[in-house]
Amino acid sequence: MPQSSDAIPLSRPDLSALERALVDEVLRSGRLALGPMTERFESMVAQRAGCEQGVATNSGTSALHLMLQSLGIGPGDEVITTPLSFIASANPILYVGATPVFVDICPKTLNMDPARLEAAITPRTRAIMAVEAFGNPAYMDRYAQIAARHEIILLEDSCEALGATQNGRACGSFGRAGAFGFYPNKQITTGEGGMLVTDDSALADTVRSLRNQGRDSFPTSDGPGEGPRLGAWLAHQRVGFNFRMSEVSAAIGVGQMERFDEIIERRTRVAAMYIERLAASEHVVLPTVLPGSEPTWFVFVVRLAAGYTSEERDRVIAGLRNHEIGSAPYFPCIHLQPPYQERFGFRQGMFPIAESVAGRTIALPFFGGMTAREIDLVCQTLEVMLSRENLARS
Ligand SMILES: Cc1ncc(COP(=O)(O)O)c(C=O)c1O
Repeated sequence: MPQSSDAIPLSRPDLSALERALVDEVLRSGRLALGPMTERFESMVAQRAGCEQGVATNSGTSALHLMLQSLGIGPGDEVITTPLSFIASANPILYVGATPVFVDICPKTLNMDPARLEAAITPRTRAIMAVEAFGNPAYMDRYAQIAARHEIILLEDSCEALGATQNGRACGSFGRAGAFGFYPNKQITTGEGGMLVTDDSALADTVRSLRNQGRDSFPTSDGPGEGPRLGAWLAHQRVGFNFRMSEVSAAIGVGQMERFDEIIERRTRVAAMYIERLAASEHVVLPTVLPGSEPTWFVFVVRLAAGYTSEERDRVIAGLRNHEIGSAPYFPCIHLQPPYQERFGFRQGMFPIAESVAGRTIALPFFGGMTAREIDLVCQTLEVMLSRENLARS
């Protein structure tokens, strides 16, 4: 979603003098790619995700793409994922030529329903791509059990869940590999960026090579044009990509990770204020957090009560936007996006819970710096829009 010019935007990055100083350090060093800042950022994120290895990329989408490619997932393979997510949870499955299989969600947590997941497994299933919807983890341990029972790979699109935990275990660490995204609306940002995390060092090496034009064992801090290593720079062992993160982005990321606890604390406080303010509303359903789950909210998504139509929801969003309050229908179902309908024949009605939820969701402005007054204004405006819809009905 483009950054908005709303008076209360949907999101706003939490940046400080520290990030500016680190960017300045990189600029003064003259080393703008493949340097020590990227390695520092990788180890900070990997540690937070409870994984041994981190491989920074230029987006969360490219981290997911490399995850599937490095595991050799391709034509003839099926990968199971959720229909209620950002489209980049599923697009990488198409990039590698595999087939996406969607599983309907649990209406409370909005994560894939584990009972339905088991039924979707076929002899062609290679992997489950689990997503913590909006940064709220659920059932990750159950997905892991199912994957182990069927000898398929559990992968995590944790792009919305950096720092979140389930039963004390960090999101990103439940499967063979996890991916994070650092777009400016995420918990932390690098402008654009992503990272794959894993405990599998062979997998991490393949991903390092694939992100760097297929160069093998080329250390990140050993850049091009450095005498004897020039040969390594021009040797390409596989068909790779340029999915590298720049040192400037990594510097922003290092500053964000240094301040991670503070950033998450501020966001958690904003979520708690919303929950307190909207808990009594009969028109709005709040996110359900399961016992043992510790979300790090990516966005704050409420949904209108059953009975509201998607047209009514769209009018509420338009009304909020007219009042310069950022708001969005997070997320339209992936299977109903044109390329998925056209290529795979997905239709309305195939995943009724996800479709029903997706027709009623509203992402409200959400960022750490939100004041109590701003939250109150958002909630008041939402209530006015809802009473307008109710009046129009009667
Ligand atoms: C669940 C999910 N997957 C993947 C992505 C892709 O991340 P990026 O925008 O960094 O490519 C996002 C981010 O928007 C996301 O929310």
